[in-house]
Amino acid sequence: MRRDRARYGVDGGYGGIPIFLLAGAGLLAGDRWAKRRDKRLAGSVAKVGIVAVLGFAAGYFYSTGPGKLSVWKELLDELDLRGDEDVLDIGCGRGAVLISAAHRLPRGRATGADIWRLRDQTGNTRASAEGNAMAEGVSERVDLVDADARHLPFPPDSFDVVLSNLAFDNIHGSEERAKALREAVRVLRPGGRMRVVDVRADRYAPILRSAGCVDVGVRHLDWRTSFGLPGHHMTLVLAGKPAAGSRN
Ligand SMILES: C[S@@+](CC[C@H](N)C(=O)[O-])C[C@H]1O[C@@H](n2cnc3c(N)ncnc32)[C@H](O)[C@@H]1O
Repeated sequence: MRRDRARYGVDGGYGGIPIFLLAGAGLLAGDRWAKRRDKRLAGSVAKVGIVAVLGFAAGYFYSTGPGKLSVWKELLDELDLRGDEDVLDIGCGRGAVLISAAHRLPRGRATGADIWRLRDQTGNTRASAEGNAMAEGVSERVDLVDADARHLPFPPDSFDVVLSNLAFDNIHGSEERAKALREAVRVLRPGGRMRVVDVRADRYAPILRSAGCVDVGVRHLDWRTSFGLPGHHMTLVLAGKPAAGSRN
């Protein structure tokens, strides 16, 4: 799928749109009704509701698009890549994070692994990720692999950096998620670094520690990741794999 401009879709699919429309239409009708009957309090409540729905919708679309890109720009800046690393993005979807990483790897490779499930992101196909990599001019350094995060088809110690954005939470069952996290650790090289953003990614810290990771930390991200719900910010878990020969 060749495109002039990359398009990264909407996380969670279009399921939210009918809800926003229904809530907005209901509140508008309520506002009209209150005006006709001269019910001032009900009219004010409806207006506040309309503003809240508009704010929620704007926040949702911001977080799934520009918000995600700006947060990951900062996380990738912090990683301070040399440019020759092998980077894996688990659950890469249409490639927003993968392609941002690929831009920083002039001599390296960015691999995206996914099962490309449509309900998790609109237009989520391997072809759309390929088209986006082409549109962004990085396709020659991007590899896309059909793979379930719980069974990654890579040998141990394959990647310098493992990234993931909003993917592990879509795996049902805590034991299945733990299996996927242990796979992420398995494919990370000694001395490698991991960055995982997710809903309550702090849940993953003990699993990463028991899988042998060091320097495991948790950071609560800012409003850009709130998907329109104040206080519902995503969490980042940071971890490293001990360097070969090191004692942790
Ligand atoms: C909300 S989307 C986020 C996509 C991408 N990380 C981004 O930020 O644009 C979640 C992604 O996780 C993928 N996913 C869900 N379960 C998976 C699994 N078991 N193995 C690999 N990928 C999975 C979905 O196909 C989808 O692409």
